[in-house]
Amino acid sequence: MNSKVITALATPNIAMIKYWGKRDYTGLNTPNNSSISMTLDETLNTKTTVMFSDKLDSDKLYINGVEENIHGDNVSEKSKYIKNTLIEMRKLSGVKENVVVVSENNFPSGAGIASSASGAAALIYALNEALELKMDGKQLSIMARKISGSACRSVFGGIVKWNVGSHDDGSDSFAEMAFDVQHWKELIDMIAVVDPDTKKVSSSIGHEATVRTSVLYKNRVPFAEEGVTKIEDAIKNKDLDSLSKVIMRDSNNMHATMLDTWPPIMYLNDSSKEIVYKIHQLNDSQQDKKCIAGYTFDAGPNAHIITTDEHKEEVLTALKDVQGIKKIFESHQGVGPRILPENESLLDENTLTPKKMK
Ligand code: DP6
Repeated sequence: MNSKVITALATPNIAMIKYWGKRDYTGLNTPNNSSISMTLDETLNTKTTVMFSDKLDSDKLYINGVEENIHGDNVSEKSKYIKNTLIEMRKLSGVKENVVVVSENNFPSGAGIASSASGAAALIYALNEALELKMDGKQLSIMARKISGSACRSVFGGIVKWNVGSHDDGSDSFAEMAFDVQHWKELIDMIAVVDPDTKKVSSSIGHEATVRTSVLYKNRVPFAEEGVTKIEDAIKNKDLDSLSKVIMRDSNNMHATMLDTWPPIMYLNDSSKEIVYKIHQLNDSQQDKKCIAGYTFDAGPNAHIITTDEHKEEVLTALKDVQGIKKIFESHQGVGPRILPENESLLDENTLTPKKMK
């Protein structure tokens, strides 16, 4: 095969109704409930370069300049899933050569800003192009899901719904675009970073522990399923009051099941809780107490505040005195992954290592 160097860019997504709890823990990452998210713009992104070459004696993976071990028995679950994906996609294409993957995030990894989602989506996108597989959105979404569940939503832009599905093989559990970016382009996610470090409990471990031990969890599944329909209605009608309320209730509900896990999982810190109070105060001060912003937290303490351009300054003012906010990123909806021009490659083609090695 010709040794094409392909670089893809993908962006994180922020779930408005969360995926928490799986039906399958053996590598399918099929969820217990549907979820719905907003794909972020390129303010935060992952770039991934891939190259298949007969000069490589095994597959290689570099994330943020550091080589990750993906071989042997003692590797992380995520590395195992990445390796399986490389094997599966290579098999589909008939290509025999090994591959080098170089991936970089321009934002803190593993801190609940969905780096695994953008990382997996960028990898699948780049592999699909390099192997000339011509997969459609559904196939790309299923492939990305097998690396990290939430990644199946980062394959599309705008507002994206992941249908729970029911088949044992996961073939009907994939994401689809529900609304394109243009439908409500004023929507914005303000990400208040209060702790850029890696989360204490990985989401993979958390999913399983909550389902196994939380007595509240059984109520979460129908609640989340109903929530997805409510979010779809709120977005259809551009109803920021309803959207904000449903987003906040779902985040609180998921974090309640985490706290109810044994031993408890607590992702929020004091700054996160302060942000929760500030957003409630801001909403309570509006005419008729109509909500103009909603917070949501993934598996980490960093706050995502969903609002519209019109209310951005009010949100910033509300957060002004919160102790511990290190940075606030702002992101509109993004259009999903894309292939970058050749000169954006992250790979040194002579050494087959990253251009910027740590
Ligand atoms: C809280 O997708 O990170 O962000 O499938 O094990 O990789 P794995 O889990 P992951 O879980 C994300 C959970 C969440 C909610 C969400 O994004 O829906």
